Amino acid sequence: MSKRKLSYGLMVAIVILFLLYIAFMQLIQDPQADVFLGFKTRLNHPLNVPFWLIALRVHVAFAAVGMISGAINFSKRSRQHHPRFHRWNGYLYVATVMMVGLTSGYMAPYATGGRAVSIAFNILTMLWPAFTLIAIIQIRKHRLESHRKWMIRSYAYCFTNMTVHLLTFAIRSITGWSYPVSYSIGVYAAIPLLFIAAEVVIRTLRNTSDI
Ligand code: HEM
Repeated sequence: MSKRKLSYGLMVAIVILFLLYIAFMQLIQDPQADVFLGFKTRLNHPLNVPFWLIALRVHVAFAAVGMISGAINFSKRSRQHHPRFHRWNGYLYVATVMMVGLTSGYMAPYATGGRAVSIAFNILTMLWPAFTLIAIIQIRKHRLESHRKWMIRSYAYCFTNMTVHLLTFAIRSITGWSYPVSYSIGVYAAIPLLFIAAEVVIRTLRNTSDI
């Protein structure tokens, strides 16, 4: 098996394991998000919990579909043998990015950690759809290589939640700081880290058509 196929397989395995974890947390362990909501102590706006929960469920459902459809579209087989499917699945991915962004826009003002974290999420709510739209504009102009690069940059942000939680866990374990402080640093660190990760992938795969 080639290195690239192995990397793709590893990414798919991470996506599957992460989505199983998310499903477990959302459906079994903490369906009302009591634990996460418990960290929201200093909110600037009163939180409508039932509405916030609906937004969260829509957010997570679209995020899961986006992670799956994006992963499928990076497969060489899907692109080469099923170009029509690749195109429609690509539009499905774009729609999920917009829905995750929309729900993020609603949840951001109530972010754990306060105003600073709200600003970080709002920046991401603009950046992520922008990267995705640039990728679409590039392919409409038949710039295949540029399309792939921008899709890699866009898809990297599907790992936002996973990266934020891993960083929050690491910061809390190492420093003993509170959850909101660790989470805030996690959110701010995740945004550049995921961008750098995408650039590393782009540079590692000199010819990204071979993914
Ligand atoms: C695509 C993969 C993503 C998944 C699976 C996901 C999942 C989640 C989950 C489970 C939560 C609830 C809190 C928690 O347990 O962390 C959450 C909260 C949130 N997510 Fe996402 N998310 C994703 C991407 C994004 C992106 C790209 C953005 C920004 C554009 C975003 C913005 C938010 C916001 C603002 C909150 C509320 C945070 C808070 O209340 O402190 N998410 N997300």
